[in-house]
Amino acid sequence: SEQTFIAVKPDGVQRGLVGEIICRFEKRGYKLAAIKLVTPTQEHLEKHYEDLKDKPFFKGLITYMGSGPVCAMVWEGREAVKVGRQLLGATNPMASQPGTIRGDYAIDVGRNVCHGSDAVESAKKEIDLWFKKEEVNSWKKAEHDWVYEK
Ligand code: GTP
Ligand code: MG
Repeated sequence: SEQTFIAVKPDGVQRGLVGEIICRFEKRGYKLAAIKLVTPTQEHLEKHYEDLKDKPFFKGLITYMGSGPVCAMVWEGREAVKVGRQLLGATNPMASQPGTIRGDYAIDVGRNVCHGSDAVESAKKEIDLWFKKEEVNSWKKAEHDWVYEK
């Protein structure tokens, strides 16, 4: 089934939100396929955010994202990319609905706590960039048949 790349950004890690963010994906019924804490290099981040390289905030974004450990994850389940974005909330927390992660825990677009892939294709690219193949687990979760009718 579908996989998405979700990351708790350095501000989220520093603010003790790793458990909370994992909790929301777990409770919704998604399956954790990979997880690690890593401080990304500037080169790695330039690849991750290559689509944004011409934006005025690019340099600040790369500095922020490399400023400490990031909790990188792969979550799996039905429409994981789309629903993952819904769980995160709008990019700018000022527009994020309460009940979403950013809507509950963030204020500034430049400190918005989490990242989620924006399309199935970008999820594939990001998972390949952040994880080795053997770090992404394939397993059957015991609750599967209680979360999905079929
Ligand atoms: P990600 O899940 O982090 O990729 O966010 P997104 O897909 O909702 O937004 P986008 O990919 O367009 O931007 C990536 C990140 O750049 C955002 O999450 C913000 O942290 C940052 N960003 C986006 N727009 C702005 C902006 O106008 N100003 C600043 N300072 N940062 C921005
Ligand atoms: Mg994005």
